[in-house]
Amino acid sequence: MENGKSNGAATMKLPEIKFTKLFINGQFVDATSEKTFESIDPRNGEVIAKVAAGDKEDVDLAVNAARHAFDHGPWPRMSGFMRAKIINKFADLIEQNIEELAALDAVDGGKMFHIGKLSDIPSAAGHFRYYAGAADKFHGETLKMTKPSMFGYTLKEPIGVVGHIIPWNFPSIMFAMKVAPALAAGCTMVVKPAEQTPLSALFFAHLSKEAGFPDGVINVVTGFGSTAGAAIASHMDIDKVSFTGSTDVGRKIMQAAATSNLKKISLELGGKSPFLIFDDADADKAAHLALIGCFHNKGEICVAGSRVFVQEGIYDKVVNKLVEKAKNWNVGDPFDSTCQHGPQVDKKQFEKILSYIEHGKNEGATLLTGGKAIGDKGYFIEPTIFADVTEDMKIYKEEIFGPVMCLMKFKTIEEGIKCANNTKYGLAAGIVSQNIDVINTVSRSIKAGVIWVNCYFAFDLDSPYGGYKASGNCRESGMDALDNYLQVKAIAMPLLNSPWQ
Ligand code: NAI
Ligand code: MG
Repeated sequence: MENGKSNGAATMKLPEIKFTKLFINGQFVDATSEKTFESIDPRNGEVIAKVAAGDKEDVDLAVNAARHAFDHGPWPRMSGFMRAKIINKFADLIEQNIEELAALDAVDGGKMFHIGKLSDIPSAAGHFRYYAGAADKFHGETLKMTKPSMFGYTLKEPIGVVGHIIPWNFPSIMFAMKVAPALAAGCTMVVKPAEQTPLSALFFAHLSKEAGFPDGVINVVTGFGSTAGAAIASHMDIDKVSFTGSTDVGRKIMQAAATSNLKKISLELGGKSPFLIFDDADADKAAHLALIGCFHNKGEICVAGSRVFVQEGIYDKVVNKLVEKAKNWNVGDPFDSTCQHGPQVDKKQFEKILSYIEHGKNEGATLLTGGKAIGDKGYFIEPTIFADVTEDMKIYKEEIFGPVMCLMKFKTIEEGIKCANNTKYGLAAGIVSQNIDVINTVSRSIKAGVIWVNCYFAFDLDSPYGGYKASGNCRESGMDALDNYLQVKAIAMPLLNSPWQ
């Protein structure tokens, strides 16, 4: 199979697009303005569906529904055990609709259909099961108190109405990663999917109705960032915003919170993660991991190991393997299971990546393979590897969010650590070595929220995930994620005959 060639037309029957309206208070409704926007198939730039373009008025309606469901409805008052039953039913329904959901993300976002079926959608269902299991198992503490005549305890209460603003690179997983712990905590919510990939979120909304969530608990407002997204960020009646996306928009969301009601904010932002290969590594395995680490999901993944540092003793061997493997990496139709990756999400992202590739060439990096768009239809880009990249280059410093690898050589362990940390980001890092002392020293020295040793993308429902530095300020997945949607109340009272009575 040649690099960059698709294996022919998709054989899969495209999913029927059933849901294109906003989901507010348990009903699918048009946007107040009746405006719509086009959802585009990145394989060919064609319109798949016209989706309701929600704006401030629609966000107001959705927030009112969520506020009412939180302040007066059964959801936050129900036992965690009862909430878990409904959340588990939701997970059952997602599992029964794996094919359809995976197909929606494939046509909407150019994501591989077979990977969606094997990984994205089962993982989304898994998030709901994991947090269903947690819904009746979080609690406060009994306090010892420093004053012996006092008694105190804490309660963990749901934070209230949550706004979830989600990105386009993992539409289903991101939906689940945010919505599931918020539901378990007892929150109600307004979800805004990315304008590039609104379809699976609307399908989830439909399933949520069937699962039996009370009206107003889950609302979905499709629309643009600068309109619907901004209205969520500055809303006076939203208690918390959970956001995944670019660092620039993360900043805007913090500013909007600061100038509105000081809502709580959790941010999961960009990255420029290092992948370090040490001299004692198996060159073939290391190259395989580095390649997957950078090109999986067409490089549109915040934890992409896009800066690959190879120790000098093994450098040539690894480079040869990387180039050989990249040339065999098959880019094509997301419905063709022999392909490793599909088109970039949209024209804007496609052009952005190609402009970074041009920067790399002009800045003097050595292009080892790739470097071009594929075909004249759709947004396909060759897996691209640059060597001799230096720390002053734009391609070294900035998140590209595409299939572009920067390759560098290092000498000592200390130098490897210094290179790894030479970034404003701190999301993830990969280490390949068999030497436990190297592994321990390096993993403790890298300033990043997730370290993967002799593996990459080792996501797990039970493992907290999030960034240091400019990569964010929260943890998702695992029990830590519940804290994003809970607040602690301390209750104190005097015991009999206490002087504090
Ligand atoms: P973005 O940050 O603009 O979009 C993410 C979400 O934020 C979308 O739902 C969007 O509608 C919303 N949004 C945009 N502007 C907003 C605003 N002013 N207020 C509230 N919500 C707003 O990301 P974009 O433009 O799609 O991609 C640009 C770059 O961002 C990518 O090239 C990549 O580097 C990074 N990115 C990182 C992601 C991650 O997983 N950390 C995911 C998506 C993008
Ligand atoms: Mg699309």
